[in-house]
Amino acid sequence: YKVLLLNGPNLNLLGKREPEIYGADTLDDIIMQLRQAAQQFDIELDHLQSNREYELIEKIHQAMGQVDYIIINPAAFTHTSVALRDALLGVNIPFFEVHISNVHAREAFRHHSYLSDVATGVICGFGTLGYHCALQAVAQKMQQKKQ
Ligand code: DQA
Repeated sequence: YKVLLLNGPNLNLLGKREPEIYGADTLDDIIMQLRQAAQQFDIELDHLQSNREYELIEKIHQAMGQVDYIIINPAAFTHTSVALRDALLGVNIPFFEVHISNVHAREAFRHHSYLSDVATGVICGFGTLGYHCALQAVAQKMQQKKQ
């Protein structure tokens, strides 16, 4: 079972960026922990963080027919990108949308997502635990598929 984890712009700054909102863990810490968890679930985890919309879209295209599930924190592209939405719909790979912060408790422009209505599920406000919740949900889906 293959899972692609995507992180959008500025998430490379995790740990340094507004730690009161996003926490102290760096992206490397988070990825390391997720890889460990994935191994236990027998999931092959690929990861890309990019500040470029183009790179995220290309990665999604490459995943077509190769990846079973996508977990994506689109970061600011959540609120701007019709292109990311179309890419995810275009490859027909189910996905979970994750946000570290509670976007609904923040500025109004963060309340709308171009992805949420086509996502299997959305997690926000759980800190970096949200990524683990999403991974666990994918693992559960994998189990259900096997039965
Ligand atoms: C975010 C929330 C977005 O509004 C913001 O632009 C981010 C991070 C989050 O994980 O809480 O960069 O996706």
